[in-house]
Amino acid sequence: MFYPLQINAQHHAFKTGILRIIAALFFTLFIDYGTGFAADDASIARGGRLFDNWFLEMKDYPPTSFHPKYINTRLTNANPEESWRCVTCHGWDYNGMTNQKTGSISGDSGGTPASLAFILQDDNHLFVEIFTDRDISDLAAFINDGLIDFPPYIERGSNLARGNATREVGLYETICANCHGTDGRQIKNIDPLGTYVRNNAREALHKILNGHPGQRMPPMRFLKTKQVSDLLAYTQTLPTKNILGSITRGGRLYDHWPKETGVSPPNYRHPAYPNKDNHSRSHITSWRCKECHGWDYKGNDGIYKSGLHRTGIKGIRAFSGGNPQTVIKILMDENHQYFGVQWKKSVFNKEDLNDLANFVTQGQIDTDIYIDRESGAAKGNPKRLQNLFNTLCAHCHGIDGKALLTGIDVGDAVRNNPWEALHKIRNGHPDESMPALQALDMALIVDILAYAQTLP
Ligand code: HEC
Ligand code: HEC
Ligand code: HEC
Ligand code: HEC
Repeated sequence: MFYPLQINAQHHAFKTGILRIIAALFFTLFIDYGTGFAADDASIARGGRLFDNWFLEMKDYPPTSFHPKYINTRLTNANPEESWRCVTCHGWDYNGMTNQKTGSISGDSGGTPASLAFILQDDNHLFVEIFTDRDISDLAAFINDGLIDFPPYIERGSNLARGNATREVGLYETICANCHGTDGRQIKNIDPLGTYVRNNAREALHKILNGHPGQRMPPMRFLKTKQVSDLLAYTQTLPTKNILGSITRGGRLYDHWPKETGVSPPNYRHPAYPNKDNHSRSHITSWRCKECHGWDYKGNDGIYKSGLHRTGIKGIRAFSGGNPQTVIKILMDENHQYFGVQWKKSVFNKEDLNDLANFVTQGQIDTDIYIDRESGAAKGNPKRLQNLFNTLCAHCHGIDGKALLTGIDVGDAVRNNPWEALHKIRNGHPDESMPALQALDMALIVDILAYAQTLP
């Protein structure tokens, strides 16, 4: 297989017109395409998956530098691997991408294996010796017979599916739900299906018809246009993950993600954890967000500025109200190493990343408003909500807060570490059934905290 360096060399050679003509002759005359690979639905669908992402479908390594003809390598979302996907330059609606100066692809020019082989070697493409005859034949089958017109499925200029959302629920429940779950949220490595299809209807339709590259998801080309259109409409009604549910799960991950996820942490200390003797925390503890950034989210500017938990690391307060995508990038970076094939152990999935990012940007609070930093006293009214404690909390903890034998007594816990208690009251306890009260007004929560501090 040739990769960018060689491709550049090839590219120079191609600049001389004579070589180009010889190449054209070679590909049209001497290579025998088309026999044995009929343009059946399977071939068309595979071509669609190659168009989507050929290296995932071929289980191959993508080139690591930008496609030499990719324009705008400095776009914020530009990425070398992506620049080699057909769809990046030709679009999910097959009508071209203005940022790549392409027009629509059509069977007229790339619909036979020979004509497509010629195009894929040209100056715009430089795909030399990457595809086998079968790949080219499948891609050509897709371009010739697999491109669809979107208007019957999706409203022009929007992402709204045109189908009837109630007619094909059974198709979803019997085929898709096996993997995606009845609510579309079972595969944790992608966004909830409903959210994804509402935002990316054309891309979703392409994947429904052709399957997902490198995955077992079945291509649905055998269905009638109307059925697919109805199926698409139904998937657009699937639920989004509730934002508060996401924030509070993020809070529990921040607290103790190995408990919350059941995934075991790496068996070495977190690379950003200071390697000093007085930091004798176990390797598990060193991977908890709270260990470096604090229960008050202030890191070295808060309660952890001294004592056994001091690491000197800054807090996460600057990201309150920030962009969740930036937080996700931070969790994947070399400093954190929570997600990415390049790290020794990638421990999060996409749902974990989203939930943590939502917590960091929308779920954290300035604890100084609710707890006196010097004395640790909750700044609430300890008399007002005894009743709420007795109804809600006492159900598990008992009226005196001592009923649970596994943890420490609520009174002691809330006096010793009110920041941790406040975090748990708002977000719940990792891997426990304790309710998260994030939805309640902070005035109520701080009153409960104040009452809990009076328990024996
Ligand atoms: C880095 C960008 C880029 C990538 C990646 C890319 N193309 Fe192209 N492609 C172009 C440009 C530029 C043209 C010429 C402008 C045009 O015709 O729209 C073109 C033209 C074509 C045409 C001829 C269109 C016509 O009808 O005139 C076909 C067919 C085609 N590409 C197929 C593919 C396939 C299949 C892949 C993936 C294996 C692919 N391209 C990947 C940029 C790209
Ligand atoms: C055999 C299991 C399986 C079945 C059945 C299945 N899918 Fe998928 N689907 C997957 C997998 C796996 C992915 C990709 C996950 C990834 O990218 O990591 C996926 C991805 C998708 C995507 C793209 C989502 C994204 O964020 O990239 C869509 C849309 C989709 N499926 C819709 C459907 C629909 C609609 C059906 C029913 C017609 C269906 N799937 C049936 C396994 C399946
Ligand atoms: C072993 C220590 C450690 C752990 C555990 C840790 N971080 Fe960090 N984090 C750091 C360090 C060090 C920085 C500062 C990096 C820098 O200055 O560039 C940082 C920076 C951040 C920032 C950016 C703060 C800013 O203002 O720039 C965020 C957000 C963040 N971490 C979130 C998290 C989350 C969420 C987790 C848990 C999944 C986590 N961190 C776990 C050490 C850690
Ligand atoms: C459904 C049962 C349930 C309810 C209701 C409940 N909790 Fe909990 N709570 C738990 C469990 C289980 C633990 C974990 C105990 C352990 O660590 O073993 C816990 C832990 C705690 C802790 C941390 C103690 C520690 O170990 O540091 C605090 C503080 C706390 N709860 C306060 C409250 C308050 C205040 C309420 C009412 C707003 C409440 N809980 C409601 C089950 C519950």
